Amino acid sequence: MAELKVLFVTSEIAPLIKTGGLADVSGALPAALRKIGVDVRVIVPGYPQILAQMESWEELANFPDLAGFPPCRLLGSTMESGVPLMAIDCPALYQRDGGPYLDAQGHDWSDNPLRFGLLCRISAILGCGGTPLSWHPDVVHGNDWQAGLTGAYLDVAQDAAPSIFTIHNLAFQGNFEPEYVARLHLPEHFYAIDGLEFYGRMSFLKAGIYYGKHITTVSPNYAREIQGDELGFGMQGLLQVRTKDVSGILNGIDTDEWNPAADKYLPFHFSTRNMTGKAKNKRALQELLGLQVNEDIPLLAAVSRMTHQKGLDLLIEISPRLLELPVQIVMLGTGEKAMQDQALSLAARYPGKFAAMIGFDEGLSHQIEAAADMFAMPSRFEPCGLNQFYSQRYGTPPIVHSTGGLADSVTDCTSQTLKDGTASGFVFSGMTADNLYASVLRAVELYRKPVQWKRLRKLCMIKDFSWETSARAYLGVYLKALGIESGSDSDKL
Ligand code: ADP
Ligand code: GLC
Repeated sequence: MAELKVLFVTSEIAPLIKTGGLADVSGALPAALRKIGVDVRVIVPGYPQILAQMESWEELANFPDLAGFPPCRLLGSTMESGVPLMAIDCPALYQRDGGPYLDAQGHDWSDNPLRFGLLCRISAILGCGGTPLSWHPDVVHGNDWQAGLTGAYLDVAQDAAPSIFTIHNLAFQGNFEPEYVARLHLPEHFYAIDGLEFYGRMSFLKAGIYYGKHITTVSPNYAREIQGDELGFGMQGLLQVRTKDVSGILNGIDTDEWNPAADKYLPFHFSTRNMTGKAKNKRALQELLGLQVNEDIPLLAAVSRMTHQKGLDLLIEISPRLLELPVQIVMLGTGEKAMQDQALSLAARYPGKFAAMIGFDEGLSHQIEAAADMFAMPSRFEPCGLNQFYSQRYGTPPIVHSTGGLADSVTDCTSQTLKDGTASGFVFSGMTADNLYASVLRAVELYRKPVQWKRLRKLCMIKDFSWETSARAYLGVYLKALGIESGSDSDKL
């Protein structure tokens, strides 16, 4: 049977390089697609972190004089998951210290339009069979603004594969000065309202939406929200026009990477059958972070980018009140300096009760998920969110604001939902400190009722968050873009 071939375009991929959930999705979704028979290959920029971590690279193609870009090569290797990975080796654009988007001082790289323009350009070349490779994708699947121009470049070409575009976060748009239209060798007439012009700038994100044959986002609820004024970030008009082609597919999680019974980062493993490891992890974390070692005090955690989106300012605001309940709090994150400083000063003011770690630490994030009793995600908006899944799987009921994917994946705990077996956390509406406080209080009160708390924890842990269902939904979108209805035989490709 002919396999559907998909090129998955992304700017980060776990476990090689990660700043957020996009990396987790890019690591896990392609692997899940391969399991259901899709021949998916991933393309990423060749950051030093990526090139150094793969065992062997093979040169697949060479681009010595691509108009507008420095010389580069396309390299190929295979991820541990078995997914073939292509990296663009372009030392002039990628070979430097710092992160994928920001330099060591936290400023955007000034040449980001070129860095990600090249990712889109090479992906489009692959998408119209313009390399010596015998592998030609049937569909090109771009993710977030960094991949947004792929559809525009494909639109210029003849016989190009259709592009699918997934929005992981509409707040990041990749808007740049209009001069980049020419510098990136796109046709001047693409700079129009019916094209990539967005309030006087050229927008990678808008291009993704405009030129994508189908647009997905990472939860059904967010798919609705972004078509409204409040969370549309200026793109709502275009998204409304494209509404028939917009759908939400809820993220899954990598259930091998996030498995409390086998997690390589955990000192103690546990499962619904034996939860003693969870209590031991709590004790170990309390010791590690200098918190008072006491299994009776509920431990509330947050692991997150520290930005306005994530609403940790509210958690910081109510922390002194929460500590009195008592609750212990642990926060791991990086981001806005003011928020980092506030977290650090709470840690200084409340030793033994409040721990703040500023930085990005994958291992610690797993240990916190396993050790904590409850997990806070008071996001102002959240396209999907992944930590609420990880929390549930680790028996750490999440406390979430009712928005985006959080509303789609957490069911508020009431006596009714606890009884009917659907409860999976605590959900609050109305983004205020008092509402967040009230929901933490509800969690703490339930924590004091061990039988009910154990039931809630178990209900969380037995939920199925694997990627399979969502991978099938993506397959349906790919087939639709090719004019094939799902369920029919992909032999017809
Ligand atoms: P977003 O992509 O908007 O940041 P998600 O909830 O989708 O939000 O994904 C965030 C991912 O990044 C999760 O896997 C989370 O555990 C991880 N993460 C965020 N901040 C940190 C940190 N400081 N250290 C380790 N992991 C982090
Ligand atoms: C984005 C969103 C987050 C989502 C992630 C993966 O970073 O902010 O909600 O889970 O992408 O899709």
